[in-house]
Amino acid sequence: MNASPIDVQAAFEILRNNDRGGYTVPTHGLYPFQWSWDSAITALGWRHADEARAWEEAEVMFRGQWDNGMLPHILFHKDAETYFPGPDVWGATDGIPSSAISQPAVWATCLRMLYDEAKDRDLAERKMTELLPGLIRYHDWWYRERDRDGTGLVVSFHPWESGMDNSPAWDDALARVPTIDWEYQRRDLGHVDADERPHKTEYDRYLYLVDFYKQNGFDSDAIYRDCPYRVLDIGLIAILHRGTRDLVALCDAFDRKADSDRLRDDMARTEAAIGKLWSDDRRCFLNYDVIADEPIEEVTTATVLPLYAGLANDDQAQEMVDLIREWEGATSFAISSTHPSSSRYEPQRYWRGPVWLHINWLIALGLKDYGYEELADRLRVAARKCVETSGFFEYFDAESGAGCGGDDFSWTAAVAINWLA
Ligand code: DGY
Repeated sequence: MNASPIDVQAAFEILRNNDRGGYTVPTHGLYPFQWSWDSAITALGWRHADEARAWEEAEVMFRGQWDNGMLPHILFHKDAETYFPGPDVWGATDGIPSSAISQPAVWATCLRMLYDEAKDRDLAERKMTELLPGLIRYHDWWYRERDRDGTGLVVSFHPWESGMDNSPAWDDALARVPTIDWEYQRRDLGHVDADERPHKTEYDRYLYLVDFYKQNGFDSDAIYRDCPYRVLDIGLIAILHRGTRDLVALCDAFDRKADSDRLRDDMARTEAAIGKLWSDDRRCFLNYDVIADEPIEEVTTATVLPLYAGLANDDQAQEMVDLIREWEGATSFAISSTHPSSSRYEPQRYWRGPVWLHINWLIALGLKDYGYEELADRLRVAARKCVETSGFFEYFDAESGAGCGGDDFSWTAAVAINWLA
């Protein structure tokens, strides 16, 4: 495959083609709705062409916020036959039909970047004033509903909530979830090769969980108590923590002292608890299976995200930097989603090995914060090689750099505009 420079105009063209009027689909066909964390990262691409359009991405997303503050991971704005499971399967039809789980809380961080670096200050002040209450309610929801005992570590109820759906880190916890007893037809395999997507055994359990929330009337108490999948997801915890830090800065800028005090307390609880997830052996933080009550030993890109959150002490940061240096040396195309030494590593299959550009960007931000600029820049060069080799795919084979999953992908285009170009 020949490398060619990044074509920024082509990246903007992808955003325009994926625009459905106020929100951007991740890609045509495979993902025909608004996904939460895709949308937040995509807004950072939009801002370089049209700041008003970037703010709109957030406004439309927050229109789908639940009364309890939850921001769903999918908003089904319009019908589409090309995706499964759709709104009828989820059954959450109050307001804009949606899924019943959330996704990594990148919104506060992305909106803070959008706000701080905005050229149109009046617009930024106005939009941030409108969005801030919803953002606060969203973070309050995480701490209130997903950490009811105040441990400092929020719990996740679905692999899809991690955004890293098919990560080998979830295998054992997911294997304990019952399977459904009804037939269904997947749509993803009509768009993408089966060896780049999850297996049926996983889908049978993903769907059991979707059904479980519906059967329980989306009741937070019942789900917290009985959900057969409960994991402390280090990626989700780290991204939430960094988001809360950015949200506190926004609250301070907008004179919301009571909110920033409360959110600081939430952060302090996480900082006090995070040591529980550190592994000397693995030289990173680990996910934790709450039901089995044991750490999950897989090293994935999530396990170094505490760097991005500022949750590591200096020694832990140094250990993770050494790990990342070796990891980067062992792959040809930036940091693979699963460490190549894992027996479950597959370089082309969804979250089991391929490279995701936005995750490499988050890790690079963390490295910079801890003063490892040179390594952060190496990740940027390595990530750029993916796009130069294959274009704007959803993810990239960690060994060949071949494009995998959906093509003309919004967050890849956005990261290319915002970070790589
Ligand atoms: C999918 O369907 O693969 C999505 O990632 C779920 O959010």
